Amino acid sequence: MTMKKRILCIGAGYVGGPTMAMIASQCPRCRVTVVDINPERIAAWNSDNLPIYEPGLDELVRATRGRNLFFSTEIERGIRENDIIFVSVNTPTKSFGLGAGMAADLQYWEKTARQILEFSNSSKIVIEKSTLPVKTALAMERILNCRENGIHFDVLSNPEFLAEGTAVRDLEHPDRILIGSRETDNGLKARQTLVDIYASWVPKERILTSNIWSSELSKLVSNAFLAQRISSINAISALCEKAEADVAEVSRAVGMDSRIGPKFLNASIGFGGSCFRKDILNLVYLCRNYGLDAVADYWESVVKINDYQQERFIRNMLGAMFNTLAGKRICLWGFAFKANTGDTRESPAIFIARRLLEEQAEIVVSDPKALKNARTDLMGVKGQIRYVEDPLLAAEGCHAIALLTEWELYRNLDFPKIFDGMAKPAFIFDGRNILDHRRCFDIGFNVYPVGKPPLTHF
Ligand code: NAD
Ligand code: UGA
Repeated sequence: MTMKKRILCIGAGYVGGPTMAMIASQCPRCRVTVVDINPERIAAWNSDNLPIYEPGLDELVRATRGRNLFFSTEIERGIRENDIIFVSVNTPTKSFGLGAGMAADLQYWEKTARQILEFSNSSKIVIEKSTLPVKTALAMERILNCRENGIHFDVLSNPEFLAEGTAVRDLEHPDRILIGSRETDNGLKARQTLVDIYASWVPKERILTSNIWSSELSKLVSNAFLAQRISSINAISALCEKAEADVAEVSRAVGMDSRIGPKFLNASIGFGGSCFRKDILNLVYLCRNYGLDAVADYWESVVKINDYQQERFIRNMLGAMFNTLAGKRICLWGFAFKANTGDTRESPAIFIARRLLEEQAEIVVSDPKALKNARTDLMGVKGQIRYVEDPLLAAEGCHAIALLTEWELYRNLDFPKIFDGMAKPAFIFDGRNILDHRRCFDIGFNVYPVGKPPLTHF
């Protein structure tokens, strides 16, 4: 079979790996290669133990790897041999210099652009898959097209909207695919090439095209809007706790307004994940750069409420447990930033674990998929930490359970047995509101949900 298109993706992470596996699966006549500078990551993609946990991903990779999907460290060769190059490298928050703690760190991105320039001996389409500040494509174009040697690069923006834990489903049935390009003849031609790839499985009406800056900006704005909903309901959860209202009832009532909709209105310990915080801070930084301070302040408040919600959770624990946690053993159910992933980047659990240790509590960390990452996150942090995968064993002898990730398995555990094994009075702090609070209370627990009146035996 002759291969119709040769596609390369630089960056074999949470986005590059699953996205390319989906393209390979849906476009059997495309040959897709994913390269990375990290040889361990590539070795893991080539093994039975993939570097990330994502439901459905093992099956997808098994069906395509070695057929038309390849993982490699040969970046130079990859660039030379492919005409369509996705760039999906990390774009973390800058940790140094001007914009530290706010702006996007574009060094990996720019290094990649320079590599593409250096190793290309034919014209190519280069696609921004990473999330980037608006106008990054301009910098990319200037770097790529700085030589006058007849080789031309068209830069497209094609941001990714998948969510971890549902990545495979999101890639297979996306709400939309967004492709931004220059509105020149070359730009429109390149755009069409990418539209044709997605059209193999995505209905045409879900493939949106736009100008390149709108596309770059839409990604930051989508994440900002999603995070804003969580901060909005979390802010209201604080009010509910004072006013004896129930945040779940409030969000149900509010979400049934079809103009508002029910999704992303679950009160919690705050949002985590590698992107919401970094992308909003990036947006805030951009607004300040353009002199739009009022706009920047507005979006920055989303992050401030998120920090407030995490600190509030700790203060509620302290208040409920007689204002001291020193020497008390607290079990953390869940460490991943959300269910169905082993990813702990920016997980609220990291902040909560550190704060509990600062209060001199002992902690027992439990999670079905994220213990390896949890160990790395808490490496070198002072205090007593144990890691126990089994949630029942983890809770044994503890004074309290703090439920931090909404893993389904926590709903149906043997709560009477767990209660018997704990120090009394026993507390549950349900940071995700997923447990049957009345039942836990009837068993004997003192139950503290988020944004609902606590159920206590005092
Ligand atoms: P990641 O850290 O998991 O993966 C990035 C990969 O790029 C790493 O494996 C790294 O080794 C590699 N890399 C860095 N520089 C390189 C270079 N010069 N050459 C080759 N490889 C290089 O990151 P991720 O979560 O996949 O995110 C990638 C981008 O996608 C970010 O901009 C992020 O904001 C965006 N995004 C992420 C998600 C998500 O759910 N994680 C969703 C949508 C968008
Ligand atoms: C998010 C977006 O949903 C994706 O569209 C986007 O592509 C991605 O960021 C990205 O750019 O990286 P992700 O972070 O993987 O995806 O997961 P989400 O489902 O959005 O959850 C983010 C955080 O918000 C989690 O900590 C989750 O527990 C929390 N959350 C979510 C709530 O606290 N309440 C809710 O109602 C929903």
